[in-house]
Formats: sequence, structure tokens, C-alpha cells
Amino acid sequence: MVNIMPDDWSLPEPPAAAALQPYDLRCEHLRTPLGIGTPTPRLAWRLASDRRGDAPAAHRVTVHGPGGALAWDSGWIDGQDVSADYGGAPLVSFARYDWRVEVRGGGSARSWFDTGVLHADEWRAAWIGHDPETDPPFEPPTDDREPRTPRTAHLPAPRYFRRVVDLRPATAVRIAVTARGLYELHVNGHRAGDGELTPGWTDYRRRVPYQVYDVTDLAGDGPLCVGAVLADGWWSGSLGWDGRQQAQRYGRHPQLLAQIVAEHADGSRTVIGTDGRWRETIGPLRYADLLMGERYDARLDLGGWDLPGFDDSSWAPARVADTDLSVLVPSVAEPVRVTRDLVPVEVRSHDGRTIVDLGQNIAGRVRLTVRGAAPGTRVTLRHGEALTDDGGLYTANLRSAEATDHYVAAGVAEETYEPRFTVHGFRYVEVTGHADVAVVGRAMHSDTPVAGEFSCSDAMVRQLMSNIRWSQRDNFVSVPTDCPQRDERLGWTADAQVFLPTACYNADVAAFFTNWLADLRCAQDAAGGAVPDVVPHVITERHGTPAWGDAATIVPWHLYEVYGDERVLRDSLPSMRRWVDHVERHNPGLVWRDKVGSHYGDWLQADVRTDRDVLATAYFALSADLTARAAAVLGDTEARDRYAGLRKRIGEAFAREFVSPDGRITGDTQTGYLLALAHRLVPAGLVPAAVAHLVADLERRGRRLTTGFAGVALLGPVLSAHGHADLAYALLHDDRYPSWGYSIKRGATTIWERWDGWTEETGFGPVAMNSFNHYALGSVGAWLYGGVAGLGQEEGSVGFRRPRIRPLVGGALRWASAAYETPLGRLASRWELAGRGELRLSVQIPPGALATVHVPTTDPSSVRESGEPVSGVVGRTGSAVVCQVGSGRYSFTSAW
Ligand code: BGC
Repeated sequence: MVNIMPDDWSLPEPPAAAALQPYDLRCEHLRTPLGIGTPTPRLAWRLASDRRGDAPAAHRVTVHGPGGALAWDSGWIDGQDVSADYGGAPLVSFARYDWRVEVRGGGSARSWFDTGVLHADEWRAAWIGHDPETDPPFEPPTDDREPRTPRTAHLPAPRYFRRVVDLRPATAVRIAVTARGLYELHVNGHRAGDGELTPGWTDYRRRVPYQVYDVTDLAGDGPLCVGAVLADGWWSGSLGWDGRQQAQRYGRHPQLLAQIVAEHADGSRTVIGTDGRWRETIGPLRYADLLMGERYDARLDLGGWDLPGFDDSSWAPARVADTDLSVLVPSVAEPVRVTRDLVPVEVRSHDGRTIVDLGQNIAGRVRLTVRGAAPGTRVTLRHGEALTDDGGLYTANLRSAEATDHYVAAGVAEETYEPRFTVHGFRYVEVTGHADVAVVGRAMHSDTPVAGEFSCSDAMVRQLMSNIRWSQRDNFVSVPTDCPQRDERLGWTADAQVFLPTACYNADVAAFFTNWLADLRCAQDAAGGAVPDVVPHVITERHGTPAWGDAATIVPWHLYEVYGDERVLRDSLPSMRRWVDHVERHNPGLVWRDKVGSHYGDWLQADVRTDRDVLATAYFALSADLTARAAAVLGDTEARDRYAGLRKRIGEAFAREFVSPDGRITGDTQTGYLLALAHRLVPAGLVPAAVAHLVADLERRGRRLTTGFAGVALLGPVLSAHGHADLAYALLHDDRYPSWGYSIKRGATTIWERWDGWTEETGFGPVAMNSFNHYALGSVGAWLYGGVAGLGQEEGSVGFRRPRIRPLVGGALRWASAAYETPLGRLASRWELAGRGELRLSVQIPPGALATVHVPTTDPSSVRESGEPVSGVVGRTGSAVVCQVGSGRYSFTSAW
């Protein structure tokens, strides 16, 4: 049942350092990015030091630009900052900047960033495409032995573009590229870059990101051939659940835009953009659709199409479609990449079909190898997350997504094919059409760097964390999606906000969410302030929903708390305010009953129904509170007072309306209590009673949870904060329905959308909505890091300046550990019941942090650190000694 696929998303160790050593240098949250488009990029680093109590006192940043000229010397800047905004000579477009940070009394480190288009008037390119009006009516190729399905019948063939240019010898060649659609860039016979599904999905109406490639190495001295394959993608392909109806959401046909910039030894530049001189045709790729799949006919291979000498006389001139470049924006997030290959764990034959089991539910595609096939042999790959009872592929839950790739063999001894413009959510692949095939799974996702890891002594909990991490990867495909497999894959806002804290522990998602928030702001109703249920905003009729729209306040605030970059608040405060104002305007009584959008409530909760007004008003209070806090950070005291006052009045309205004198919350559900307690909406005197009602509900149900998307993340934190860690652990270890363990017992390798995705009684859950790869119920992950292993920060701390380590010894665990890359450096803890009544706790605190460590113990006098009586004690609770420590590693022991 358990641990089919180890999770190897391991966290690299920081450097060993006798003195303060900078590492993990980032520019605008990205490592060695190309295409930086802001004039004052933020440069950041982490610090490592083996010396206890180390803290930086000053740093100095130097930046050298084109020709090695000094662009900026910050001079020594006193203080503990681990970032600096570039403040030197104006940056030049398409140039490499080498930078170095030095820490006083410590080491130094180097990195670089590369600029994109810094001034809009530097663009010299037009959108080009194919002119479909000139096409003959669609007719499938005559040798297509099987007709296409109704859903794929009208999918257009992706276009191949090329242009050969003669550049004078160049010292550097860069290409800025994007598409309305998806593109793959080729230079002189090679694919450029390793990004997938570029340019990614954004709100194309307002933002089309371009990527920059340094192709100097591919360019050589001769003529340069730049080629691109262009497919529909999110721009004009199937999107969302309306399948084909939602197709052409943004435009009818894809378009390409590229600008080649060659730099010469004398400092001059040659700039060549896409225009009518590019040529285009169709090729072996017969169609490509994100939801439906791809069809590739290798007999139609365009051998050498991306090389300079290729004869393209039969190709047509590209059509200049549009010259509106106002939507172009630099890419601000990591691209999607293939990050892991999965070799099948089992290959079986079922009903004359080959069924391949990758052992892990992934988002991605396969690499297919076909041996000894006759020309024209058609190999079909179908993808699914599960098997039917008789061992066949289960695809009912994909709804209209065909998730099927077709490969038509050229007929050579061995040939390989890998789709490029589609992505499937699957663990199993069914292969038909040829027997001698090999398949490798290729997992892909937005390549957000690993930031944390968690482990513990219990195999099921380890599998839970593995499932959470896989669901994160599988659903962070350019935008945070709900699911990777069915005809949906949308950026549902509540899913994103409830999972964000867990996501931040697992990976550095600063850039990823900065990008998504830009789309959220684009999509917010300009006049009214309503925030859509999905971002990018493609289901236009759905917006303004409690817990969904509140992503507008929760996401920026959480990013600020974790990463300490106040710019996210600066960018978002107007949007946060408009959202809260919108809710208030329609609910002057401060109980959120009107303008509730689609009001999904505590979505997919088990067995009960949380009162929707309770849920909505709790979120209203939270959003007002976060807006007040954001205003305070930005020094806007007027806004702070206004929203703090509003929060207070919402609290009063909540108490009046929903909290009864005996501490009951209207509806009497777990989520109702959890929301009210977590967001401090229960009058202080009634908190113990409310907690008692929550506990009573759990006990009455035999310690079973009833929470859905909105409540589930709060179970662990609220129960343990109120002295019921035992109950939180009982839920964590449970494997009866509904629980995380129940899915794991059934062999889940990702988090299920619904508790009843499959049950003994009914088998598979409702096909209308039953994903086996949704991360929302995996939001418990933040409690594993922050509660069980105890890695968090003090209330009011930002960017982990004041970490708090408060492990939760309990449940069936003998040990638990977690490590996390804070903006300052590594924070880690590991506790272990060592036997003979001893608890060992080792912690690591990053330079510049002052941490509060709660050492669990049953006897405060027993606590030792490295064998010595503990110093820096600031408090004692019933079950812990609390001390303060600076950076370094510490080993505590205590009686337990
Ligand atoms: C999605 C969810 C989303 C919900 C809202 C579902 O179809 O998969 O994750 O939040 O709709 O109702």
C-alpha cells in the first residue's frame, strides 16, 4: 500500500562556513535569471555560519555590467539586511550583469542576472502567424487510418516558423520570444532552453510574458537559423470544463513574436524581429491541445527545418497579425520544466493493451520509444490516474479531456517521441498499436526551488508529505491549478490560498505567486472590486465568493510574512482594499450575506454543512484584518485605522450573530469553530467553551473530521494551540474514512480532491468531479512543518527574523524533523524520543535571527543544552522550557 515512490525533492545543504558566508543568490526571487525587466531589481542572498550567535553587521554589493564596467558599488551598508535593491547606473537592455555580495567579517559570493527589454520602444518585432483564411477546408491526411474524434476533429496543425539571418560575428546573441499560444524555440538545429509550455499562462488580455534565451553558444559564426513551433495552448486551445466551447478563449489562432539581438565586438548591436520575412508551414505535428493531447506523424518529419541550409521555398510567408506590443511583460517566475524521469514500476498486458504503471501520479507526459514498427504504425497513448477493478485504464474522471497522444511511426529501427504542447495528469499509461515499446514518465511543473523538507518516524505520515509535495508539483504548472488531469486545471483562488502556507514550506514560491498575483489584480473587477473564483479569469460569471475572493488579501500578506519583501504589499494594497470595500459595501451590517458569488462554503466537507454566513463573515474579518496590517507596514495610518476599525466591528457583529452565550457557533460544525477560533472571533471568555464544543463534536464522531477545503488546514493548529494535540494527532494517524490515511491505505500517491474519491462502499466517487490530484486537503502540510516539527515564526515576525521552534511531541511519533530555507538561511529542528525518558531536540538557527525555542519536557530542571544547564531561559510553560538563542546549532536534552 504505502511508499511506492520515494519523494526525492531533497533540500540542498547550505555551505559549511566558519564565518558568515552568502549563498543562494537571487535577483527578483530568481536564480541567474534572463530577461529582468525592472530598473531596480532586488538582489538577495542567504547566510550560513557555523559560529554561534553570528549576525551580519554590514554588506556590500558590487555589480559589473557590459564590458566589465562597474555599474554599482553599494559601499558598505550597515545592518542585517539580506537583500539590496540595485541602485547603480541605468541598466541596459539585453546585457549581462555580474554581481557580488560581500559580508563584513565573512565571505563573499557571486552570481549574475541578464536584462530583457527595459524600454518599450526597444521592441522591433511584430506578432506573426498563419493566415487561416487562405487554408483549404480541413481534410484529415488521407493516410490517417483512423478518423479523429469529434473533439479533435477540428484541431488545427501547429505551425513551424523559421528565418535565417546573417549576423556579423557576434560576441553574444540573445533572443526574446513569446507567443499568444505556446512556442518551442530552435536555433541552428537545437532546441533552445529547457522551459516547457512557454510562455506559460497569464491573463493574456493584459500580460503576455516573454522569455529571453542566450543562444551565443548555438549561434556559431555562420548564418543563424531561428525556428519556432507554435501551438494553441491556453490561448486558443481547449480550456476549462466547457472543452471546445472554451477554446479560443483569448484568440482564434496562435501568434509568435521574437526579437534577435546580436552584440558585436565594437559594442554595436544588430536587432531583428519577427515580421513578414519569416516563413511558415505545417509539419509532423498534426494537432496539439493541452487537454486532448497531441498527434505526431513521424513520416512527415521536416528533417533539418531548423538549420540554415534547409530549403524552405515551399513554405509560406508568415502573416503579420498585429503590432500591439503593449501587453508584453518580462517573465517574473520560473518556467515549467521536466524535473524528473520515472521508470515504470510495472508493465502489464490487459485485453491486448499494454498498461504501464509509473508508480506515481504525476503531471507531465511520457517519452515513447518504438522499435521495429512498420511505417505508418499508429501507437496510441492514453493516460489515467487509476485502474478499473478489472485492471483497465480508468478515465471517467477526466471528463472531456481525452488526454490521448498518437504517434504515427516513420518505420525506422528505433524511434522516440515526446509530446511538447500537452500535459496530462496520470499514473498509468495505456499503449496500443505496437507491442515493442518503452515508456518513461516525465514529470513537469513550474520549477520552484525546493525550500523545505519534513520527515518523521511514521511511514504513513511520510507518505502523506510525499503526496502533498507531488500534488504541489503536479498542480503548479505555470499557475496554481486545482487539478492536472480533467478538463478544468484552473487557478481556483481558494485552493491556492488554503494551500499557500504549505506550498511556501515546500518550495520557494515567491516568484511563482508574484506572477499569479499580478493576474489576480488584472482580473479584479476594476469598478466594483470583486475578485474572480479562478485566476487567470476565464470563468467570467464566477466571482466574489467568500474564501475564494479572499485570496486577494491572504496571498499577499502571507508572502510578505514569509519572504519579508514588502513590495508585494505595495503592489497589492489597493487591490486588498478594493476587495474588502466591495464586501463591506454590499454588507453594511457586517455579516457577509449579500454578494456571496458562487458561495461554495466549506467545499467538499464530509457529512455536514458549515453555516455559510459564519464562513463568509469569518473571511470578511480576516481580510479586513490583513488589509489593516498591510496598511500599517506601508505606513498608511489612515487605512490602517479604517480597516482595523472595520475588523473590530465585524468581530462584534460575528459574536452577536453567531456566538451563543454557551460558546456555540451557529451550525455547530468543526469548520465553524475552527474559523472562529483561528481568526479570534470568539469573545475571550467563551473560548474555552467553544473549544469544548469543537472537541465534543470530534469525540461524538469517534474522532473523525468533517472539514472541507476551508476548515481542514486549521484542525492541527487550532486543536494543538488549545491543548488538544492528542486529537490533532489522532486525526493525522487515522486511516478510516474520512482521513488522509484512508486514501494512503488505498495506495494514493497524491492528495485526493475529495475524502470520498474512492470508498469501499461505492468505489470511485462521482465522475462529475473526482480528481486524485488536488492539493487543498493537503494544506495540513503547514502543520506538519510548523506544528509537529515546530518550525515557525513569532507573531509579528517577518521573513523569519524571530523564528519560533515549538515541536509537538506526541501521537505515535518517535521523532520528527524539518528544515527550511528562510530568507536569512537555514532553520531546522529535529526531536526524538531517545528512550530512558529522554527527549533530544536539535535545532539550527540562521545568522541574524533571534529564535525562541520551546524545549518540551516534563521536568524543567532536566533541560540541558550540549550537556550544560540551559541559558537564555525566558519562560516556562507546563510542558516546556522556553529559551532564546541566536544563530547556530544547539542540542537540547530533557526529561520526557
Ligand atoms: C475545483 C475546486 C474549486 C471548486 C469550486 C472545483 O471544480 O476543482 O478545487 O475550488 O470547483 O467550486
